[in-house]
Amino acid sequence: MAKIVRKAVFPVAGLGTRFLPATKVMPKEMLTVVDKPLIQYALEEAAAAGIEEFVFVTSRAKGVLEDHFDRAPELEDTLSRRGKQDVLDQLRSWLPKAGSVVSTRQQEPLGLGHAVWCAREFIGDEPFAVLLVDDLIKSKTPCLKQMVDTHAKTGGSLVLVEDVPRAMTNRYGILDVASDDGRLVKVKGFVEKPDPAVAPSTLSIIGRYILEPQIFDYLARQQRGAGNEIQLTDAMAAMLTTGAYFGMRYEGQRFDCGDKLGFLKANLAFGLDRPDLGQSLRDFLKELKV
Ligand code: UTP
Repeated sequence: MAKIVRKAVFPVAGLGTRFLPATKVMPKEMLTVVDKPLIQYALEEAAAAGIEEFVFVTSRAKGVLEDHFDRAPELEDTLSRRGKQDVLDQLRSWLPKAGSVVSTRQQEPLGLGHAVWCAREFIGDEPFAVLLVDDLIKSKTPCLKQMVDTHAKTGGSLVLVEDVPRAMTNRYGILDVASDDGRLVKVKGFVEKPDPAVAPSTLSIIGRYILEPQIFDYLARQQRGAGNEIQLTDAMAAMLTTGAYFGMRYEGQRFDCGDKLGFLKANLAFGLDRPDLGQSLRDFLKELKV
């Protein structure tokens, strides 16, 4: 039986340069899809998968991410005085339990692998999830829950995967596949951002991982890889000789909200799905003059 996954790391220390100027002073994780910031979608997804402890790896000027999960006394008093009990209840309903969100700093943006390594003291010796907040996944069963359920059967480490066009392999971590049953893939190698001509497959890793704590031994080597960054994919590749790795396809649709077009698509998809907005938005799209 695989150990239960209770903790999740949210690396949110990146600079978000693809989304300037919006991200000049505002963290990209506070961008809203319809009316909810990306960080809240990710935290709710993790909570729905049974995660009890949430570790934010932040950087300077990201304090607002912690504030978002704190009480807001002035706002709450005002809502209460105005008799807006329903809005107040809603606002309090998604607050995590006291003490369940912790935060640490990545002092320099040295790469995703380095950001995950910064969370090591909070994780200790148990498997943990990593969620990249800008990968927003719309699905019936929350995506991390799909992974946790699979991990309970497979054990080892598990990454979420998606087929990408071959011309785009140089933008992703790519799997070298040992076997593939259509949903679950046994991994024999990882390559970070390979040239399409040499990519071992077109299966790319997307922003959800369940990792064994041994990954910290490999990340501690602080080896630089693609883009001169400390890459999580490189540590996973080095760890392959000692641990089993699986890739999992998922039910749902992913939106890369770190990219402007992906973010616009997400707002449309989530907006069209909302009972209070969907029909009006659909009508507007029909009328739209371009
Ligand atoms: P990205 O590659 O999207 O980088 O990082 P970025 O800096 O956030 O955005 P762009 O490319 O400049 O627009 C993938 C994830 O890893 C985190 C980011 O916050 C994002 O969730 N990350 C990346 C860190 O936490 N630290 C790093 O040093 C690098």
